Amino acid sequence: LDDPSADPFEVAARAAADIARLTGVERHDIALTLGSGWGKAADLVGETTATIPATEVTGFSAPALAGHVGSIRSIVTPEGKRVLVIGARTHYYEGHGVRRVVHSVRTAAATGASTMVLTNGAGGIKETWTPGTPVLISDHINLTADSPLEGATFIDLTDLYSSRLRELARTVDPTLDEGVYCQFRGPHYETPAEVQMAKAIGGHIVGMSTALEAIAARQAGMEVLGFSLITNLAAGIQKSPLSHAEVIEAGQAAEPVISALLARVIGQL
Ligand code: 6GU
Repeated sequence: LDDPSADPFEVAARAAADIARLTGVERHDIALTLGSGWGKAADLVGETTATIPATEVTGFSAPALAGHVGSIRSIVTPEGKRVLVIGARTHYYEGHGVRRVVHSVRTAAATGASTMVLTNGAGGIKETWTPGTPVLISDHINLTADSPLEGATFIDLTDLYSSRLRELARTVDPTLDEGVYCQFRGPHYETPAEVQMAKAIGGHIVGMSTALEAIAARQAGMEVLGFSLITNLAAGIQKSPLSHAEVIEAGQAAEPVISALLARVIGQL
């Protein structure tokens, strides 16, 4: 993927073949990327039939970065749907390029998945959101100044975060709120002025992932469902300074509740 002359879709096809071989599952129906706070959902979605280290799948290893590569699981739901659970996200701020960021999404599409469920932990701009609140992503503003599309690929992003799937999620939890996700490059959190900018341009959630992945999913023809866990309010909205430890802690506290919600939504897909 670091070779500009390589075709990223061909690399994704090879990764999908690796997954089929290592899991013994030829095709998956749904793919799920687990962000911080959402990890327990995998155990509730169904029965895990295979767990493989992401490093064994083409394109997933990031040689420049030591350690911290997650696992990929194949799960079968009680309804018999095959779910590919991706616990190995490459963030844009890691600096390996946008191709690596969206490789898992393209791989998921190549395994046959027609639905991409993207989850993350993020900062909230709406003051009514307390840490631990799950929120549906209704749309995004991509502030990375980058795109996973290369060349003249003019794809439509209307209804990128499927209104059909959002409605379906609300049948599971009618109290689910929704908001516009702003993907910043990170890895620092935003300044209070940047948070005010995000608010002024129509944003409600600030984070460092998801938007680029959603674009790649749409390009691959997948239907996208996005969830943010509000782990904290954004800088300046929350009066105290942000700490990574606090973000992780809020994620862990909310994990059982939101994971159960997510598992029930996936059961409906
Ligand atoms: Cl406030 N900003 C960003 N970019 N990501 C976050 C966050 C804030 N809180 C959790 N993740």
